[in-house]
Amino acid sequence: MLLGHDKIEILHLPTPLERLNNVSDDLGVNIYCKRDDLTNLATGGNKLRKLEYFLKDALDKGATMLITEGGAQTNHGRLTAAVATKFGLKCAIITEDEYPGEISANLLLDGMMGCHVHFVKDMETGRQEVIKHYEDQGEKVYYVPMGGSNELGILGYYECAQELTAQAQELGIEDATVFSTVGSMGTYMGLLLGFVNENSPLKLKGINVLPYDGSDDLTENLKDALLEYFQQIKLFYNLDLELTKADFDVETKYIHGAYNNPLPEIRDMMYYLARKEAIIIDPCYTGKTFEGMVDLIKSGEIPQGSNVIFMHTGGLPGIYTKHHRVELEKELMPYMHF
Ligand SMILES: Cc1ncc(COP(=O)(O)O)c(C=O)c1O
Repeated sequence: MLLGHDKIEILHLPTPLERLNNVSDDLGVNIYCKRDDLTNLATGGNKLRKLEYFLKDALDKGATMLITEGGAQTNHGRLTAAVATKFGLKCAIITEDEYPGEISANLLLDGMMGCHVHFVKDMETGRQEVIKHYEDQGEKVYYVPMGGSNELGILGYYECAQELTAQAQELGIEDATVFSTVGSMGTYMGLLLGFVNENSPLKLKGINVLPYDGSDDLTENLKDALLEYFQQIKLFYNLDLELTKADFDVETKYIHGAYNNPLPEIRDMMYYLARKEAIIIDPCYTGKTFEGMVDLIKSGEIPQGSNVIFMHTGGLPGIYTKHHRVELEKELMPYMHF
């Protein structure tokens, strides 16, 4: 275990690990779902596990306010707002995105929880100005990095890896491939270290959705970034563990050209899982990860009869953002009868 860091318990853990019987029958593989979408604040999601650790650190440092950054529709921002609200802290989110023209999805939930969203032209100067603005009002600001992915942020998923290993054991799953989204990398890195460092029989496969840097060598670039992140963590925790780029099992081919783009093939996966299991996945993160997992099952890379675990990391509000919602509405119109 990575020692020396504590958390404030917010979540009702463990989250369920459940077998998806209908899709398992359909695809010929035992598919389990780790329901981190069911974590208990503000429609849930993966960032809450990280935020239990950030909250402890923030309260220890006497913070009165949490500030974080991300895209306008950041799930991480929404959950930072949720944790702040619950513990009597103020919250603000800073984004370089343009105002999308409507207050929907995560922005709606941010505002409902009393969180301010600052649309800035440039993150470097915008960040300084926003922090100063609140400090001038007497707030003690604690800054949570984008996606909650730094040394502290991996602890939530390190712990989840142990939780998942124990649950798999209880269900008699001897080995399985765990599919998880790779965004700001904290979830993947926490899981990987939790599996490797604690000798879990579970293997991890990351499906990358961010960043899309347009280069031909997305996988190499991602592995470089993962190695750099790992080295930072190794140093911070004085870990007696060696990892090389070959240890990062990640796929970048399911990005489909951009971050958070509306795609018919991803919506097909969203309908598929909703109609088979009544589980809702999102178009930006979990939809692409689920698509990647199904594709690797269908291509035979994941052998028939084997076990897989799909990490459901949340992201539900994403379906209500305009550019996804209009496509969904068009396709679902035939289900409306007047
Ligand atoms: C719903 C959802 N799933 C997965 C991820 C990826 O997690 P990470 O940023 O830790 O890589 C995110 C990140 O924002 C997310 O919002």
